[in-house]
Amino acid sequence: MLSTRLLFFLSAVMVFIVAIYNHRRRKGRLPPGPPGNFDESVPYFCKRLDTIAKEYGPVFSIRCSRKLRIVIASYNAAVDIMQKHGADLDGRPRVISADILSGAISSLSRALQSYLHHSVDEFRPLHYKHATTFILDILKDPENHMGHANRFTASLTLSMAYGKVAPTTFSDPDVLEIGRCLQNLLSSLRLGSYVVNAFPILKFLPIPEVKTLERHHKDELALFNRNLDVVHKQLNLAKSGISRDEAAYLTGTMLEGGSDTTASALSFMIMAAACFPTQVARVQEQIDLVVRRNRVPRFEDEENLPLVTAFYQESQRWRPVGPAGFSHRATKDIIWNGLVIPSGTTVVANHWSVLHDPDVFPDPESFSLDRWLNDQGKLKTDVKMHGFGFGRRVCPGRALAESSLFINMALLCWAFRISEDPSAPIDREGFTEGLVAHPVPFKVIFEPRVDDLEQLLVSDGC
Ligand code: HEM
Repeated sequence: MLSTRLLFFLSAVMVFIVAIYNHRRRKGRLPPGPPGNFDESVPYFCKRLDTIAKEYGPVFSIRCSRKLRIVIASYNAAVDIMQKHGADLDGRPRVISADILSGAISSLSRALQSYLHHSVDEFRPLHYKHATTFILDILKDPENHMGHANRFTASLTLSMAYGKVAPTTFSDPDVLEIGRCLQNLLSSLRLGSYVVNAFPILKFLPIPEVKTLERHHKDELALFNRNLDVVHKQLNLAKSGISRDEAAYLTGTMLEGGSDTTASALSFMIMAAACFPTQVARVQEQIDLVVRRNRVPRFEDEENLPLVTAFYQESQRWRPVGPAGFSHRATKDIIWNGLVIPSGTTVVANHWSVLHDPDVFPDPESFSLDRWLNDQGKLKTDVKMHGFGFGRRVCPGRALAESSLFINMALLCWAFRISEDPSAPIDREGFTEGLVAHPVPFKVIFEPRVDDLEQLLVSDGC
């Protein structure tokens, strides 16, 4: 009797599996891909993915830490899948180590988006103050330009998140703590870094790595909870239904998501300025016409300075900040050109391939502002810089980051002649790659091109 029931049950399971298999087969097949298991922490993983795309096509499958991942590696496939199916790709894969580190407080992306949306304009005077301080820092200590970029972004986000009004120094304990917490977070997001990701059951045991992650969570929450009162008021926590710890994470996410990425983008922009002097000369010519040299550029000049925008867009395309992309999770089956991306799968757009797609950006390693300009010299609207990600998971800090890139590029080009030091050639190809890439430290010569530079900056900005 028992065996008949068992047989019936097994047959039902088989019928179910075959039905699902046939259903998927009717819809399409899994994207093809190379055999084996890939280690995403190898240097220049984004370029490795680009090479695989040349063999298997712009949508392919790989296994990382034995988990299936579907990679999108062309501009048009990214628009078709990541943008048009944004609603079906708004999940993130669960990473157990990151869950423990964040105390399983979920991403409050929408709340952050709305907070930043309301704050970007309101914070412009503060933003401007930090940007002019950045230029003064470079004027006084040009060697340390990458450190100044870090200080600029950390102190800007600290001001926006916690209402610190004075520009912060690089040795500020909060700035140093942000760096430490960020490193912990980035390492927790790597599947291969923690055994608990392979054996989730271990998270219930008091093993050393779980204890470490829990300690990191406490450190992070303590950092985020400091001086929370400004945000507390602005978000009107009582009404929003967000708890104090969640609000602490919301502002903390802003610190972690915003400072390292923007600092990296600023440094790549300075690197591009030193490597491509003819392109910078075009930007400076426009600044001299619109702003002249007797006042400091301002946010209000943005509409009349499309070359500044084209420069920072091209710089982000040339050296993307998140070159291997960020994981999304499919919440529905997605069909693309006879291939099926099954619900539940991790999907990543390889930003390097998307932004170096020769069909959209011919000769992708060359640096050209014209990629972003139409015949009238205005910004094109039909081609987009996708370095901020895709769909519903697109970076909520984009407007803030673009404001930083605009004002700093305008100020840098207005204030300095920027050139490569012939005795220390820049490694154009080199960057350190984690989830966020950084240029290998490089030297640049900054020569003031404005009389009374310091005086103008102090009276106009700081
Ligand atoms: C140049 C600077 C920046 C770049 C290149 C950048 C890029 C990105 C990218 C590629 C993503 C993932 C998008 C995806 O999954 O498709 C992301 C997510 C995120 N970014 Fe940014 N970002 C920058 C600045 C900022 C700033 C200034 C903030 C906040 C103040 C911020 C906060 C976040 C947050 C919270 C997320 C996670 C959103 C989620 O999971 O839904 N970012 N960013």
